[in-house]
Amino acid sequence: MGIDRAAIEMVLSFQFWRMAILWPLALLYCYARLNLAALFRRRTSPREHFRCRLVPDSAGGNFRRPICIITGATSGLGLATARALVGEGYHVVLAGRCAESLYRTIQEIKQEYEEAHLTTFQVDLSSLQSVVKFEASFKQWLLDSDLHPSVQLLINNAGILATSSRITADGYDQMIQTNFISAVVLTSLLLPLIKNSSLPSRIVNVTSFTHLCASNMKIDCKKFSRNTISEKYPFASIYEYSKLCLLLFSYELHRRLRAENLSSKISIIPVDPGVVHTNILREVPSCLSQLAFRVLSFLHLLQSPEAGASSIIDAALAPSNVSGEYFFGGRGRRMGSSSLSYDAKAASQLWLNTSIFEEQV
Ligand SMILES: NC(=O)c1ccc[n+]([C@@H]2O[C@H](COP(=O)([O-])OP(=O)(O)OC[C@H]3O[C@@H](n4cnc5c(N)ncnc54)[C@H](OP(=O)(O)O)[C@@H]3O)[C@@H](O)[C@H]2O)c1
Repeated sequence: MGIDRAAIEMVLSFQFWRMAILWPLALLYCYARLNLAALFRRRTSPREHFRCRLVPDSAGGNFRRPICIITGATSGLGLATARALVGEGYHVVLAGRCAESLYRTIQEIKQEYEEAHLTTFQVDLSSLQSVVKFEASFKQWLLDSDLHPSVQLLINNAGILATSSRITADGYDQMIQTNFISAVVLTSLLLPLIKNSSLPSRIVNVTSFTHLCASNMKIDCKKFSRNTISEKYPFASIYEYSKLCLLLFSYELHRRLRAENLSSKISIIPVDPGVVHTNILREVPSCLSQLAFRVLSFLHLLQSPEAGASSIIDAALAPSNVSGEYFFGGRGRRMGSSSLSYDAKAASQLWLNTSIFEEQV
């Protein structure tokens, strides 16, 4: 009964219809562009789709297992990505907020890959303190291990679609902090280790086609901090906005690394997995989320986590000359993101604002 009331309330909200109408339209728009580009054989020619497999370290003649950190590795796309990268020979560091889920994830992956190299760390990405603690324990673990003190791949994957307003202990909207702020802070904390890699390294940020629906809001990260969230939580708009911010940040980081002549050594790749059957709709009343998945499946738009993760794997294993490109649609395909996401002025303003988070840690 409670669930039904929640479903009715949601159906009566503007945000629900924004999500139900604008998001599928944005997705169809992306596929239409991808198909048109394929038709004209622009960037999408099959020979461009290749993944860089691991090779033995030429310096020592030994196989040096690269390290990959994946946030939100206990479910959906993160789990599918972790499994695939174990198969590619990575030492995968699973970052998740629940010890039990991390344990279950390890068991699940080891059923397929008995010899998998896996390490887990507990981190709550809605807490800056927890992110800092994670980075410190990870660094200590690296020092104690016989692994090279560097990181080859960081995948900022964790994300939520929160349907109610929650303010974190740091004073931010929980969805903005989980989807965007923590990715920025974790990236900047790990950047020295990423720069220390002798192999080309990559930062892959999992964004979403929903960023196309984000309007030209004033880019201000304090916008959704304490005292500024209205009673009617604009959850769909905030989700879109968090993904747009992650894109702006990705392109700005790419530009800054390019200015330092580091963009061929460190690639920054934003990825959009499309629509994937995961737990992302866990806060949406189940009758509505099930209906949404059924409709999307009927329209052949819904993918399995393994299929959705293929864009993430493409980005993770991409050659080092694709930094700053937006991966969408699998098979190594890339396309342009929204024009707003390429706004260098907005991105540098956002970059200035992100220094607030770093001062907080
Ligand atoms: N599914 C889609 O259609 C779709 C489309 C475009 C983009 N994306 C993006 O893809 C990413 C992965 O989502 P998914 O679809 O795989 O959803 P999911 O199945 O719900 O997985 C989300 C992951 O993030 C973790 N997470 C959430 N809050 C966290 C926190 N505070 N601290 C640490 N970990 C946290 C979750 O951990 P717990 O399991 O412990 O909660 C879970 O492992 C998200 O960024 C999402 O926005 C998804």
